[in-house]
Amino acid sequence: MDVAPVGSAAVAFGGPAVAVAGGVSLLLLKSFLSTQRNGGGNPNNLPTIPAVPGVPLLGNLLELKEKKPYKTFTKWAETHGPIYSIKAGSSPMVVINSNDLAKEAFITRFDSISTRKLSKALQILTADKTMVAMSDYDEYHKTVKRNILTSLLGPAARKKHRALRDTMAENLSNQLHALAPNSPQEAVNLRKIFQSELFTLAFKQTLGKDIESIYVGDLGITMTRDEVFQVLVVDPMMGAIEVDWRDFFPYLSWIPNTSFENKIDQMYTRREAVMKALVQEHKKRIGSGENLNSYIDYLLSEAQPLTEKQLLMSLWEPIIETSDTTMVTTEWAMYELARNPTKQARLYAEIQSVCGSEKITEEKLCKMPYLSAVFHETLRRHSPVSIIPLRYVHENTELGGYHVPAGTELAINIYGCNMEKDIWENPENWNPERFLADNEPIDLQRTMAFGGGKRVCAGAMQAMLIACVSIGRMVQEFEWRLKDDMGEDINTLGLTTQKLNPMLAVIKPRN
Ligand code: HEM
Repeated sequence: MDVAPVGSAAVAFGGPAVAVAGGVSLLLLKSFLSTQRNGGGNPNNLPTIPAVPGVPLLGNLLELKEKKPYKTFTKWAETHGPIYSIKAGSSPMVVINSNDLAKEAFITRFDSISTRKLSKALQILTADKTMVAMSDYDEYHKTVKRNILTSLLGPAARKKHRALRDTMAENLSNQLHALAPNSPQEAVNLRKIFQSELFTLAFKQTLGKDIESIYVGDLGITMTRDEVFQVLVVDPMMGAIEVDWRDFFPYLSWIPNTSFENKIDQMYTRREAVMKALVQEHKKRIGSGENLNSYIDYLLSEAQPLTEKQLLMSLWEPIIETSDTTMVTTEWAMYELARNPTKQARLYAEIQSVCGSEKITEEKLCKMPYLSAVFHETLRRHSPVSIIPLRYVHENTELGGYHVPAGTELAINIYGCNMEKDIWENPENWNPERFLADNEPIDLQRTMAFGGGKRVCAGAMQAMLIACVSIGRMVQEFEWRLKDDMGEDINTLGLTTQKLNPMLAVIKPRN
């Protein structure tokens, strides 16, 4: 089956959907009319959003066959304007492709668009919205967001975890120095090293220590660290874009889709079993009197009590969030620098003039505008989250002067916003210089890559600190070039826009 993930939800197109759709036209027509009646109230007589023409029953699903809906959405914006509506099967969806409209949705109209409608896969994997990032904007959200900010991601917590980030930068540098003598014979796969270091950091911040293996009682097996990575990070990322055609035809939810359900349920069960084992092991360490000061200790002692499911989800969330998007950004940045020797040289010159013979530290970042520009331009050109996890319009509202009825799903296409020609000159080009023009510090939300408003990314500062120090150190200590520069290699894969082909680089120590 072809799959087109839309944000964290999934858009499916394929055989089963077509086959089943044929037999239910009347049912769908009825439901469509009912949506119009229930959500269609438009007291101010605002115009309706222009629609991208689709076909009966399937709407625009056929055109979303391409697996990168963010690109299809951006292409449609050229014809239909920055805001338009589509039909994903029977579900009405509005797509936004401009910075101004995204800000309106994130901030001005937030009260009407503050919930989410999750795909079947995400309902299971998020334990029905038991996460900060996937919950509705409700009391639970406020509690778990307060927890994560207090103990992990807010300013005081970031200070507390500083030593862990420094150790990570040091380990990264040591590993690259160990590999450098063999490069260029063996190109370096930065992703492998960086991802592993981020996973270690996530474990230390969340559970107090890294693991080599763990006995998972509920499954009756011992898992290696790589297997744990697979279960906690890789499987859920792939599961989140799994397709259940019933997402587009909710009236057919009664039809079983057993193979899909079994697959996602199994991912959930394995992840839960591993998280349980990790918590049990930690509780033993508490019992033995070890002095511990990680997120789990905060959740078990100072925070408002959570149910077991909430505790496991609260601990898993930062593990997956730390392990992926920061790596995606850093790999793209190093790929672009390796392809652009002049820009790499400019960054190196800046590092030399600010740091001399000292290593880059977080304190020095504010003196390095070019490094900051490299980070932000990478977020713009290769936004790790290309479409914001779908929002749900729960009461009639408006966007861009158009009427948006309750019951509409909203896709904010960050990729489209960052490709807006009126705002970004030659948006296809990776050009950090564009961020230097203003001559003032860059606002973390300038590119929309971290979202905006009340649901803005809670880990943006952590991501920025880790990515900038890492990029800086890697350029300070090595000269980077691609092993084989076969022209642009910007294809992506997965829920976040991970590079399809890992970057393979030849690195040469600077002195
Ligand atoms: C370059 C790296 C990152 C990018 C591009 C990114 C992007 C995003 C985006 C687009 C959202 C969704 C906003 C929305 O729904 O409107 C988000 C939410 C969130 N992110 Fe990140 N993120 C990054 C790194 C991180 C890290 C490292 C963490 C934590 C360790 C993290 C934790 C969160 C949390 C908790 C939320 C939910 C906030 C809320 O709903 O209130 N993120 N992020």
